[in-house]
Amino acid sequence: MPETSAPPEPILKKDMGRALISAERIAKRVEEMGREISEVYADIDTPLVLVVILKGATVFAADLLRSLSIPAELEFVSAASYGSGTAPGKLRLAHMVEGPLVGRHVLLIEDIIDSGRTVSAIEKRLRKLKPASLRLAALLDRPARREVETRIDFTGFVIPDRFVIGYGLDYAGLYRELPGIYTLT
Ligand code: IMP
Ligand code: MG
Repeated sequence: MPETSAPPEPILKKDMGRALISAERIAKRVEEMGREISEVYADIDTPLVLVVILKGATVFAADLLRSLSIPAELEFVSAASYGSGTAPGKLRLAHMVEGPLVGRHVLLIEDIIDSGRTVSAIEKRLRKLKPASLRLAALLDRPARREVETRIDFTGFVIPDRFVIGYGLDYAGLYRELPGIYTLT
């Protein structure tokens, strides 16, 4: 049996402090984003394609999808870092979209933009599939640690330089179920 390190001690929901962003504020903002996105894409003649970055953006994407008043399809991508021995920040796609994107309007959905490396690598791959347009919606923007210039077309909240969990965002796989966003550090 391979040795595994002990999982982090989960903090119980009842012990979490005050949320950085409450579930109510998130819901209100996601509704607004859905309205704005629906307006921007009001005149397209094919359903919008939401390309969701696994796993953190799934909770945001599920709510955003239901706040749209235009037809939309769902696709998923998953990015993983290469193992040790390669340059840090080098990413490979562990899962790529299934349907063709040529001529389609694509909206990439991410939970948080930190260094910008993840979305930059994914956008590069998606552009090769010749979409009619490619935009980015991110629930959170943490500009303090940006390394790659990133254009975010639809931003939920700009946050300070703190690690956050909840509403899909994890620490070591945990806390995605929290309805609000909390700081861990
Ligand atoms: P980037 O490539 O440095 O922009 O990092 C973005 C990815 O790192 C996101 O898809 C998240 O999965 C993860 N990430 C960055 N910051 C946080 C955080 O504060 N909490 C949870 N995940 C984070
Ligand atoms: Mg992620």
